Amino acid sequence: MSSDPIVLRQVAAFARERDLCVAPPDDGPAAAVVVDLAGADAMQVIRHWRARCPEALIVGCHSLPDRARLEEAERAGCDAVGNRGALSLVLRRLAGSGPLGRRRTLLADLADVAGRLGMVVRVADTPVGPVALYQLDGRLVAACDVCPHAGARLSDGALDATVVTCPSHGSRFDLSNGERIRGPADHDLATYDVLIEGGRVYMSWTRTLR
Ligand code: FES
Repeated sequence: MSSDPIVLRQVAAFARERDLCVAPPDDGPAAAVVVDLAGADAMQVIRHWRARCPEALIVGCHSLPDRARLEEAERAGCDAVGNRGALSLVLRRLAGSGPLGRRRTLLADLADVAGRLGMVVRVADTPVGPVALYQLDGRLVAACDVCPHAGARLSDGALDATVVTCPSHGSRFDLSNGERIRGPADHDLATYDVLIEGGRVYMSWTRTLR
């Protein structure tokens, strides 16, 4: 957690409201983690907590917005980023918006994918592993980019409408719902809800989707 007194005050108020304890960074599991994005190791800290406590709410706070850094923080696993002065609002909004197990990860700017078809973006380092974003039948679809058979990169495969064929051994999956159409893969493919907010494209996921 940040050591900024403005941040600490807001975290303490949020913790009181939710009946949580405020603890030092190394102390056990966490329900919520606040990371100061000005820290040189902020991205490692975010990844560390995302891996250590997948269900935790992780918020990055800043005093000087740097769009590239905020996007990097979201890709690393932050649920939200916000100005340190508005931290309590961000925490309340997130905590009150649904189950804490639900997460979202930035995939792309909408302007970068608009008008393109097929596979439009690959993101190798989301908290659930590599993900590919496709534009199919007029809608955006996010799917795991690792074949469940032997790990090939699925977005290198041929697309036929909503069906992708694995370039290694020919497994086929319907990207609109992840259904396995043909082996040798034994399992369906993980797919993720896509959200568009503020001109940006996010995937929404829970730990159980992995
Ligand atoms: S790795 Fe995809 S079918 Fe074998």
